[in-house]
Amino acid sequence: MDKLVLSGGKKLNGEIRISGSKNAALPMMCAALLAKRPLELKNVPHLRDVTTMLSLLGQMGVEVTLDEQSSVVLDALNVNTLVAPYDLVKTMRASILVLGPLLARFGEAKVSLPGGCAIGQRPVDQHIKGLRALGARIVMGRGYIKATTKGLKGANVTMDVVSVTGTENLMMAATLAEGQTIIDNAAREPEVVDLARCLINMGAQIKGAGTKKIIVRGVNELSGTSYTVMSDRIETGTFLVAATMTGGKVRLINANVNTSKVIIDKLIQAGANLEMGNEVLSVNQNRRLNAISFCTAPFPNFPTDMQAQFMALNTVATGKSCIEENIFENRFMHVQELRRLGANITIKGNVALIEGVPKLEAAKVMATDLRASASLVLAGLVADGETTIDRIYHLDRGYERIEEKLGNLGARIKRTN
Ligand code: EPZ
Repeated sequence: MDKLVLSGGKKLNGEIRISGSKNAALPMMCAALLAKRPLELKNVPHLRDVTTMLSLLGQMGVEVTLDEQSSVVLDALNVNTLVAPYDLVKTMRASILVLGPLLARFGEAKVSLPGGCAIGQRPVDQHIKGLRALGARIVMGRGYIKATTKGLKGANVTMDVVSVTGTENLMMAATLAEGQTIIDNAAREPEVVDLARCLINMGAQIKGAGTKKIIVRGVNELSGTSYTVMSDRIETGTFLVAATMTGGKVRLINANVNTSKVIIDKLIQAGANLEMGNEVLSVNQNRRLNAISFCTAPFPNFPTDMQAQFMALNTVATGKSCIEENIFENRFMHVQELRRLGANITIKGNVALIEGVPKLEAAKVMATDLRASASLVLAGLVADGETTIDRIYHLDRGYERIEEKLGNLGARIKRTN
């Protein structure tokens, strides 16, 4: 099993290019199922989750063509299997995003129930509720969601919980449903907006993406298109935290400035010295950060996917901070690993209280989920000595060649197995 070995204490210096967004690319790949004509996606990140999604679509009969850069062409003309099997779904929850498109185009889908995962139960009741409202008949049995419909019909759906993939599943299904669908209490994440833009390029009629109320008018069929995936705002935030923690001078190109506003604002409040350009973010940090408190919440508030990274920042910042995790019920698993590195963190329910320490001490630690792994890498960059991080397959799901990108900035980091 691969491990990462980091020797802390080096300032990061140089330039890196931010990759395409995992959480925008994954739903767009599923959107290919809605059309008989090929969908070309550009700026797709090279990630384990993307490979898993390509395998899932490929075993359904989608013709996948990859070029040596980062473009993928998905041709769903000859889809012949309407099943998302357990062995693939269990490794990637986002597989649930084939449900809406399969139902909308083929009137049938059988998708393995995505198990809970490290960070929480993560039920899919909102996905089911919304699709039933559009006229799908859905039964659960033997670990599978079995859905059929004689033809989806537009409906007004109010989500009980703000759900990113729940909104995306429903929005995709509604593009081919007869009549109008209104999704109230919709997720407003930039990845939802990017998906809507891609669907509109395919001929869908969608208004209000990015607001709490999305209106979709169904059309008879969608066409192919070529679409460039937005850059990853969580990777952008992760590298911004890395550069400010190590006190380096780093330029992020192809960065997601507009959709990273709340992250940038928090970093500036913490004393980060940032300059913003068009798709460029520069850090020039030469003083210790102040601890920064925050609560996670749906967009446009502070994203849960940046919680672990900012906790790493707070472990070596000046002063005390309080982090409240309101999205997932078990997203503090990085805490016990950060404590092994000498961090001073107390947990009370969904609140973590951190007191900055002058220095972290290197140790062996273990990754538990995608963003927790990132926080351990950040801590390893500043810990005194050699930190080894085990189970970094979690990291590979969401970060493209992280040791190469950080190594290019001068970090002492290497992958071993
Ligand atoms: C998406 O997951 C992201 N994944 C997650 O990123 C991200 O953390 C999350 O949104 C929140 O922003 C992708 O986009 C592929 P939710 P998703 O449905 O859609 C509850 C990463 O690190 N809920 O918005 O699965 C749920 O339990 C990953 O890249 C229900 O109760 O998250 C959670 O408490 C991790 N019923 C809250 O809503 C449902 O039917 C938000 O979940 C659906 C969700």
